Amino acid sequence: MQKAERFLAACRREPVDRTPVWFMRQAGRYQPEYRAIRENHSILEIISSAELSAEVTLLPVTQLGVDAAIIFADILPPLVPMGMDLEFAAGEGPVMHNPLRDRASIEALRGFDPAKHLKSTLDAISIVRRQLNDEVALIGFAGGPFTLASYAIEGGSSRNYQHTKALMYGDEPTWNLLMEKLATMTIDYLKAQIQAGAQCVQVFDSWAGSLAPDDYRRYVLPATKRIFDEVNAEGVPTILFGTNTAGMLDLVAEADTSVVGVDWRIPLDRGWDLVGHDRAVQGNLDPLVLFAPRNEIETRVNAILELADGRPGHIFNLGHGILPQTPVENVQAVVEMVHNYQFEGSLE
Ligand code: CP3
Repeated sequence: MQKAERFLAACRREPVDRTPVWFMRQAGRYQPEYRAIRENHSILEIISSAELSAEVTLLPVTQLGVDAAIIFADILPPLVPMGMDLEFAAGEGPVMHNPLRDRASIEALRGFDPAKHLKSTLDAISIVRRQLNDEVALIGFAGGPFTLASYAIEGGSSRNYQHTKALMYGDEPTWNLLMEKLATMTIDYLKAQIQAGAQCVQVFDSWAGSLAPDDYRRYVLPATKRIFDEVNAEGVPTILFGTNTAGMLDLVAEADTSVVGVDWRIPLDRGWDLVGHDRAVQGNLDPLVLFAPRNEIETRVNAILELADGRPGHIFNLGHGILPQTPVENVQAVVEMVHNYQFEGSLE
């Protein structure tokens, strides 16, 4: 089975010859080749060059042997044409110099036209798709509504989401207006990525798990459902990812996606029970396990595969992104472990 076919079949819960595997943040600072490119180019420079984005996207494909590539981009650049003043400050992560704190600033957000504002990412998708030659699948992505709102309102990364939740609880109509604007951007962006050649799209609502389940249902799920209802019309598999969602995976699964991301804070089988067996799941190794000795890594990789139990519809991944200091050899080893794993009773 080709890697691309294996990944896409698993998204659709069709049988596969081996469990497909890829990693969130598989292109990044843990790779010497990426660090070398970053010495000469800022992250926004890479993203605004189709050639550089394509090159960075392909680094882990050859280095790791993963079943899917994810286009090198970021969830935040689409907010720039909408009116946000984004900077990736060295050592600080993303900074928005004009955080949204009132209704007027949210009303003033402009529309987003992917073909005009992020043509480099769409072109990068076409280049990578051609180079992958249908051997490895290509995933597109966008940010989820809560996570995007949190960066736009806090002005950067946050521990408690104080301003975000204050707006959400204090002015629901304004919050809903922001959710609507972000969902519209995400729908247009993901559709454009699919038309450019993405064979699957993932929505990163990484911080949605900071919400109480009832608040997720009330404030975030409606926009999330709308995103997938509209994107599903394009006919490619979709993934919804979040962290700290163990207490609300049943709600996350209310959005009509092919695959639901599960992090390491719940055993994979219990997570899958909550998601429902009519859906595929993706996960769920703790990224910190990649710093353990090889035999410990193998024990934990095998434990996850045992919990998946050979059921169709498991995509192996971490529960969150690869960290900058991660040893490359350990990431490579995980791909081999997943691909070599033999399920009990399998025919081989
Ligand atoms: O997964 C991949 O390989 C594709 C590329 C990708 C990036 N960002 C490149 C990037 C993806 C999928 C993202 C998504 C993203 N970006 C998320 C959601 C996923 C998650 O991690 O929860 C979020 C919250 C962002 C916003 C963002 N971008 C932050 C918080 C940071 C700084 C954090 C850090 O690691 O320094 C970025 C910068 C960024 N985007 C990097 C990469 C590889 C950091 C590397 C660098 O500075 O060169």
